[in-house]
Amino acid sequence: MSDTGQVREDVETLLKQDRDSLWHHLTQHKVFQTGEPQVMVEGRGLILKDIRGREYLDATSGGVWCVNVGYGRDSIAEAVAAQLKRMPYYAGTAGNIPTIRFAAKVTSLLPKLGKVFFSNSGSEANEKAFKMVRQYFRMKYKDRDKYKILYRNRDYHGTTMAALSATGQPERRESYGPFLEGFVEFPHACCYRCPFGKTYPGCNIECAMALETVIQKEGPDTVGAIIVEPITAGGGVIAPVKEYYPLLQKICRKYEVLMIMDEVVCGFGRTGKMFGYEHYDVDPDIVTMAKGMASAYMPLSATVATDEVFNAFLNDPADKMAYFRDISTYGGCAGACAAALESTRIIEEENLCENSRVVGEYLFDSLEELRSFPIVGDVRGKGLFAGLEFVADPKTKQPVSEPFLMSIIKGIAEQGVLVGRTNRSLPGLNNIINVAPALVATRSDIDRIVAAFRNAIAKVSP
Ligand SMILES: Cc1ncc(COP(=O)(O)O)c(C=O)c1O
Repeated sequence: MSDTGQVREDVETLLKQDRDSLWHHLTQHKVFQTGEPQVMVEGRGLILKDIRGREYLDATSGGVWCVNVGYGRDSIAEAVAAQLKRMPYYAGTAGNIPTIRFAAKVTSLLPKLGKVFFSNSGSEANEKAFKMVRQYFRMKYKDRDKYKILYRNRDYHGTTMAALSATGQPERRESYGPFLEGFVEFPHACCYRCPFGKTYPGCNIECAMALETVIQKEGPDTVGAIIVEPITAGGGVIAPVKEYYPLLQKICRKYEVLMIMDEVVCGFGRTGKMFGYEHYDVDPDIVTMAKGMASAYMPLSATVATDEVFNAFLNDPADKMAYFRDISTYGGCAGACAAALESTRIIEEENLCENSRVVGEYLFDSLEELRSFPIVGDVRGKGLFAGLEFVADPKTKQPVSEPFLMSIIKGIAEQGVLVGRTNRSLPGLNNIINVAPALVATRSDIDRIVAAFRNAIAKVSP
């Protein structure tokens, strides 16, 4: 970090320009009538510094779980700079060296998936997946239209209209309808709030079996794919039980329904494996990824398909429309892939998946101790990805109010630790605080994070 820890420009001018001109994401700007906008200036490892020179331990990996290798990686910046000097850009109709190399890297990590289509954001990667599914089946069958995409309650798949149509979070959707036709919800898989009022393992995994009922109701000839997050992120950090995905897959195969696995958050080590679905015995047909791919040093995402899906797009040379007619100007641009190659090299050479697993176990052991506070209703997740659900009453599981949750987050921030939360996702259920530090986190970082939780919870506990 810089010696002074201060930006050279006038702090007050920048803050005024922020208030005057910048529209912050997910923010009600009235808060800036009395409070100051947060302006982040620099970072190294897990430590972030803001414009006032205050330092934080960032337990969110950049606010939205993406700076997987931590801040201040000069080698990524250098790899990007070298590529930009050599050649910044040519359209994705052609290959370029980092893009070819990174596509080969991704397929080596996912040996059952053969082709990588690049874009710029997680939402966009999911949009591509939906288009692939619809076109795949329309090229395959002339007598039926398997155009529907089934999504799970509580999952989030992005902010663009189709991705939002496939999102099971009513508060994210409110005010933005009407949504697209052909997107249908099925139940979530959160045991703590089982949609069927059952208890694992005596539940017959009814949440998975419910998929079959939805497919039958919609008509199997109309259903093309399901989309799921391997571990639901923004909907409350939900890791389904181990039997869940194999059962979903069995149902999908029975009705020739493709499985899209949204690895936008879990991909690239977050959960202690390179991809979140590797915790389960399941083989998705399409995998989407973004965030940790280039550790957010550059924007990049991808939709990765099996050869079976891809090969359908080689069919019928007589049909001039029978190829994937999709483009994204910046998707897979050379600098972003140079960043991703270097970030992935770091994840592999520094064994960051293993660190995420081992330090993640330590994180969960430590967080479990917080259950001694009655307001800590549930602790869940995997690797360096945890969610704590706060309840006013552990028996009824009545969620705490949002102002109460915010008072815990404020108490944690006052100790210099940044954590995340479910943010306007589910009505009445925005009661989950999440922890997802960069994959370089150490046990002493975890001690500091958990101590901040303990003190903040103790302060507000009845
Ligand atoms: C699981 C999941 N999928 C997709 C997205 C959308 O990604 P982006 O914001 O890059 O469009 C997100 C964003 O948080 C996400 O959590």
